[in-house]
Amino acid sequence: MSTLVFYSEFDSFEQWSVLLAPHLPGVNICRAEEVQNVDEVHFALVWKPPHGFFAAYRNLKLLVNLGAGVDSLVGRDDLPDIPIVRLSDPHMARMMAGFVLFAVLRYVRDIPAFERAQRERRWHYLHPRSPETVRVGVLGLGELGAHAAQELARQGLDVRGWSRSQKTIEGITCSSGIDALDDFLANSDILVVMLPLTPQTQGLLSAERLARLPHGSAFINVSRGAIVDQVALTQALQRGDIGQATLDVFDREPLPPEDALWSMDNVLITPHLASVAIPASAAPQVAENIQRAARGEPVLNQVFPQQGY
Ligand code: GLV
Repeated sequence: MSTLVFYSEFDSFEQWSVLLAPHLPGVNICRAEEVQNVDEVHFALVWKPPHGFFAAYRNLKLLVNLGAGVDSLVGRDDLPDIPIVRLSDPHMARMMAGFVLFAVLRYVRDIPAFERAQRERRWHYLHPRSPETVRVGVLGLGELGAHAAQELARQGLDVRGWSRSQKTIEGITCSSGIDALDDFLANSDILVVMLPLTPQTQGLLSAERLARLPHGSAFINVSRGAIVDQVALTQALQRGDIGQATLDVFDREPLPPEDALWSMDNVLITPHLASVAIPASAAPQVAENIQRAARGEPVLNQVFPQQGY
């Protein structure tokens, strides 16, 4: 008998276990506190488990990260030396692209100005811009970034993408490498941060780099707060150097109630949900990886902790 142990404070155990069970006959699926025999735990499906979580499970064969971003997992010093896989779900990419489209188009179509005008009962006509005149920079062209960039391009926007290694994506002007970053930022009327958090991207958007953005630009972060100097970002927004921001992620989550960002009229705050793991679409791939690991076959979407993603 094998056991799959589940841990997440955000995801529903009931939903995941009901969806996984039909694919995994012979595997007992349970929460950490319900495990009967730790030696039978061969698989773990986890999101941010507490430090030391894995130590009890000496016979683990596979660790499944219950999310796309693996930064909270790969930086730990208590990881077992077994394959780690992440979710790679087209539905998650679609959900993310939907959020990015909403946030970008909200700025392209000047919606915040109309929201303000409505509060003042003011008929405030602003002539719509044509999308090709708006330069949108997507920082990070992994699975989620590339998909969002393509969806933005379908709206006729002038979409540019930046990544660590050069990518080729139809309809997107791609640049790469740290030397190209300042130029990329200087040409982004709207910047969308979609990079994974790694030792290389931590603090990448420093005060100096944020200062490269065009005056009055819009800033959207849907990846990880630690990529950005949040104090510098807040100050740039207060001065109006950066005109507006949509922030789904922060250096501390939940964002503390006393944080200045909460009360800023030019900032939209959402509580880290631009894209979330979707059990119905991701369960089959989680089950497939567990079956592969059980048979001793190579797994899909493996993460390499040294690389950070
Ligand atoms: C959410 O932030 C994820 O990484 O899945």
